[in-house]
Amino acid sequence: MNDVQIIGVGHYLPNQVWTNHDLEKSINTTDEWIFTKTGIRQRHIADPSEATSDLALYASLNAIKDANIHAEDVDLIILATSSPDMIQPSTASILQGKLGATHAAAFDIGAVCAGFVYALVTATGMMRAFPHYKNVLVVGAETYSRILNWKDRTTCVFFGDGAGAVLLSQSTKPGYLGHYLMNDGLGWDIIKFPAGGSRIPASKSSLEDGLHAFQMDGRKVWDFAIEAMPAAVREAAKDANIQVLDIDLVVPHQANINIIRRSMQALGLPMEKTYPTIEHTANTSGASIPIALSFARLAGKVKEGDIVAFVGFGGGLSWGCAIFRC
Ligand SMILES: CC(C)(COP(=O)(O)OP(=O)(O)OC[C@H]1O[C@@H](n2cnc3c(N)ncnc32)[C@H](O)[C@@H]1OP(=O)(O)O)[C@@H](O)C(=O)NCCC(=O)NCCS
Repeated sequence: MNDVQIIGVGHYLPNQVWTNHDLEKSINTTDEWIFTKTGIRQRHIADPSEATSDLALYASLNAIKDANIHAEDVDLIILATSSPDMIQPSTASILQGKLGATHAAAFDIGAVCAGFVYALVTATGMMRAFPHYKNVLVVGAETYSRILNWKDRTTCVFFGDGAGAVLLSQSTKPGYLGHYLMNDGLGWDIIKFPAGGSRIPASKSSLEDGLHAFQMDGRKVWDFAIEAMPAAVREAAKDANIQVLDIDLVVPHQANINIIRRSMQALGLPMEKTYPTIEHTANTSGASIPIALSFARLAGKVKEGDIVAFVGFGGGLSWGCAIFRC
């Protein structure tokens, strides 16, 4: 069977930075609480003129340049987001137009913080089934600053804006090794942004009443995440026919440094086998994995032939892991 490799990586973070100390001025929190509980010191915030598709555009341009191809060479764009430009059309469609990817099909994937892993697996499956998809752009892009209630300290301190992208290409060398995807829809209520959907009439729209803002039960997320992250890696390793200890680098969803530490420990892997970015970026939901990959690559943490595990978990509840030889 034809194979699929990652041939380009890129990210984009908006210029504006809000530190924990900045948040201390508007809500009852401290830099110490946020850093101790999450590992976050700051988050990037999109300019009012920037939408999710703009962040996606800049990350995509970087990935396309890194892959040494042109936007016209892209056959398919799959974009993971849970803070799209609008409910319709898809943000992938808007991105395709901005990018000038004139030969590409485009669609969004909604699996919240696991969205990038779902998109990566979908792209790989389509490329293996239909080899005419030669170059596929997989993007994670978010502007959570637009969906948060900035007066709710139990949610707003966790998140930031950003985008990351990878370019997948058909290859004769083995790239994709295995994956695992799972969902527990009974946990839908733990992480949600009910605005804009059919459950709540639009007339009640207000971010401040909390109804139309992002909501999360942090404790329940913790209980779910510390099980889901290591389980996903173990299952994907089984599918890839490798041992967990064979993995050279874990690129996890950047939700919380304590979840990452706990999961790496559960997997028997040292923290040197991951490269956290959460201190600088906070949780960028569906964008966090490709952003973390891009940072790791720039830091020289990804060597040729390395086995890399991408692992995501979050709203849905959805979780999953994809393993590639890079
Ligand atoms: C949310 C989380 C940090 C709470 O950690 P914890 O150790 O259970 O927290 P504690 O019980 O010590 O503290 C909770 C208290 O801190 C308060 N608190 C919440 N946010 C706060 C903030 N930003 N600043 C200060 N205090 C805060 C709460 O109101 C609560 O106060 P109370 O006990 O008076 O009700 C932890 O459960 C977690 O990391 N969950 C995962 C969240 C996540 O990663 N979400 C991303 C989704 S992909």
